[in-house]
Amino acid sequence: VMWKQVIFSLAKDLEKVVMPIFGKPEAGKNVGTNVSGDITKYVDKVAEDMTLERLKSLGVNIVSEEVGFVDLGSEYTAVIDPIDGSYNFTAGIPIFAFSFALFQREKPVYAALYEFATQNYYEAIPGKGAFLNGEPIRVRPLPPAKAAVSFYTRGRGVGLIRRVKRVRVLGAIAVEMAYLARGTLQGVVDIRNYVRPTDVAAGTLLVREAGGKVVDETGKDIKIHLSAEEKMNLIAASDGELLRVILEEV
Ligand code: IPD
Ligand code: CA
Ligand code: CA
Repeated sequence: VMWKQVIFSLAKDLEKVVMPIFGKPEAGKNVGTNVSGDITKYVDKVAEDMTLERLKSLGVNIVSEEVGFVDLGSEYTAVIDPIDGSYNFTAGIPIFAFSFALFQREKPVYAALYEFATQNYYEAIPGKGAFLNGEPIRVRPLPPAKAAVSFYTRGRGVGLIRRVKRVRVLGAIAVEMAYLARGTLQGVVDIRNYVRPTDVAAGTLLVREAGGKVVDETGKDIKIHLSAEEKMNLIAASDGELLRVILEEV
């Protein structure tokens, strides 16, 4: 399977069905509850139905945010979030994306993130690097005092705010990790024990292939489990110096 062609065309087809309802009230209608107990919005359902249908025809297992695990007995598993940033989508804030990561058993083989509003297509190819619209991208390390960091907390670790230059909370962690991979953020931190593999699988591969680090709050490299329910803390940074500062504070 040529993953790039398949996933890029899926992303473009998703764009056609979701963008007409961007920012419209119908997009946010509650249509059920997902496997982690969150509300499924109409846009989540529309995007997931289309994604599942397409991926099932390829015969791969799927771990998706709303339905959970779909076991087709394959050695390949796609860990996906059809729309990361659903609140932004329904509220008319243009930061949301389709997030896709493919594993052969536990080993990552390809990841992609399509940001609908900018039409930017990010890819991670393990061992070969990270790309934005086909061009290589790298993280951009800055001294912590000059860094821009996305920071989700419920109150813990707020000392970090004083040690970096800018704090951003954009509401779509997959997108924020892509921004880290391309060098426009230096860190992404979520210490609410709330994000799931479906939120961060593609982002983790993008950051690592772009030269950055992704660890848990003990500093250990995160391993992405093929699960839609597991909750985790995540710290991603462009280099070891910023990572040390973050780990000191959280
Ligand atoms: C959410 C976004 C958000 C993060 C939440 C996620 P969703 O995903 O990634 O940035 O803070 O933890 O649930 O629900 O919009 O797909
Ligand atoms: Ca998500
Ligand atoms: Ca989602």
